Amino acid sequence: MSQVSSRGYSALQIALHWAVAALVLFQIVFGESMEEFFDALEEGEAISPQNQFLGTAHYWTGLAILGLVAIRLMLRLSAGAPGAAADTNWSTKVAGVMHWLFYALLVAVPLSGLLAFYHWADLGDLHALAKPAFVVLVALHAMAALYHSTVLKDGTLRRMLVPAR
Ligand code: HEM
Ligand code: HEM
Repeated sequence: MSQVSSRGYSALQIALHWAVAALVLFQIVFGESMEEFFDALEEGEAISPQNQFLGTAHYWTGLAILGLVAIRLMLRLSAGAPGAAADTNWSTKVAGVMHWLFYALLVAVPLSGLLAFYHWADLGDLHALAKPAFVVLVALHAMAALYHSTVLKDGTLRRMLVPAR
């Protein structure tokens, strides 16, 4: 995927990768509370303390993801990514497409959430598609990482765990 090539991921790139992964997991697991919080707001109904808390957390966690991903994208474009460890051409291309799909979702999902919250409530349905989209992509991505570490044993997972610089 890389136009810019580097020896490996830096400590900051690795920290950001896992922090964003954890925050996205939180959004997916507790997203439903935001849905209930938002519905109650729209209907003018009472909001339970749990939905109030988790809905607010969803809002700020989503904004944090957007901010962290902006830093990640700048790093990705300036420092680049390491080339494929040991791979065939087609799987490197698939991995590249998957990584840019992740970046596209990581920007589009919080933006659609914000637009739904402040302007077009109807966009909420599109925003909620984040759940299946991330579940499918993360499952494929994690399976690929595990395949690299257990079958190919080519150090691909290791470089997202141990900084190269
Ligand atoms: C990467 C960041 C985000 C992810 C992965 C995410 C994911 C989700 C998920 C999974 C749901 C519930 C879907 C369901 O259970 O049916 C949801 C609902 C919602 N999210 Fe987010 N969200 C993110 C960021 C944001 C941000 C920044 C906002 C801004 C306010 C936001 C606003 C909303 C709203 C308003 C709903 C309710 C939509 C509706 O019920 O129509 N989200 N989100
Ligand atoms: C929401 C969860 C996740 C997201 C959004 C995500 C996103 C990404 C992105 C965008 C990249 C490309 C980095 C770049 O070159 O700029 C990447 C690389 C990587 N991710 Fe994830 N990831 C997630 C979860 C995971 C999990 C659970 C694993 C392991 C089981 C994993 C293992 C890796 C590895 C090994 C790489 C390096 C691949 C390479 O250098 O070719 N990721 N991830």
